[in-house]
Order: sequence, then structure tokens, then C-alpha cells
Amino acid sequence: MAGLRIGVIHGPNLHLLGQREPSVYGTRSLAEIDAAVATLATELGVEVEAFQSNHEGRILDHLTDVAGGTDGFIVNAGALTHTSVALRDGLVGVGRPFVEVHLSNTAAREPFRRDSYLSSVAVGVVYGFGPQSYLLGLRGLVSHLRRTARSDAPND
Ligand code: DQA
Repeated sequence: MAGLRIGVIHGPNLHLLGQREPSVYGTRSLAEIDAAVATLATELGVEVEAFQSNHEGRILDHLTDVAGGTDGFIVNAGALTHTSVALRDGLVGVGRPFVEVHLSNTAAREPFRRDSYLSSVAVGVVYGFGPQSYLLGLRGLVSHLRRTARSDAPND
């Protein structure tokens, strides 16, 4: 199926990628990650639109603004992952499936990063693969959307 539209949401501080804690997050900039996601999207035959904000409310407004024309989201909420009931409620509220992604292996870091308000309402979660987490997440989301559009067939 062609014509799927995927929104990519980057939360606080992800605009600093490339300079921010490179030993944890790597040296690639957000623009480079967005470009890699766009290249994969073309290969998969879907459209992507990326959005970054450091502001929780802006992310919530963006979700509401674009959800009508979006089939699903890739979400790296940054620290909001561990703090934001509002983001969880917003994602559930707009009613679009999403995959939670993280560059770092959040389970292997400080204890406060082990809890996510998003994971239990996500289609799936990918963490620890650096920028590849976004690409794996996109593949998983597109597969999920195509499968659920076909029928309610089990995983394949
Ligand atoms: C992150 C992990 C979060 O714990 C952190 O607050 C971030 C980045 C990641 O991609 O590894 O900002 O989401």
C-alpha cells in the first residue's frame, strides 16, 4: 500500500545531537538522522515529516495539528519519556499508533531512565541502536500499519 504518512517527533535536547554527550548519543546530527529516515521512507514508499521541540506543549499542539493527516508516529520523546503523562495522554488521544525509539540503551543507564510513560501504549519500542533505532522503528511501524490495514492478521 502506498501513501502512508508518518510523523517523526523529536523531544527536548535532541536538536543538540552531534555535540551532546557523543559517547552516549553518537556524533550524528539530528539533520543527518532525519535525512537517513527520509531515505529509508522513500525506499519503503512512505512519506515522513520530522518535528523537534524542546517544549512539551508545542509537541502536544503539533500532535493535534498533524494527526488528522498522519497514519502513525515515530517518537523519541527524550526526557519527556520518563516524566510526561501529558505526552502519553496526547499520543493516546490522537489515536495514531506510534513506535517509541531511543538512541541509547535506556535500560542500561540511570534508574530513572528505565521507566517510560509511553512504552505501554506504543506499538513497540526500539532502543540502544543509535540512529538505527529510528530506522528499525520506521520499518516496524510501516509493517504494523500495512498489516493492520490489510486485516487484523497476526504478526508476519
Ligand atoms: C533519549 C534517552 C532519554 O533518557 C534522554 O533524556 C534523551 C535521549 C535517547 O534517545 O537515548 O534525551 O531519548
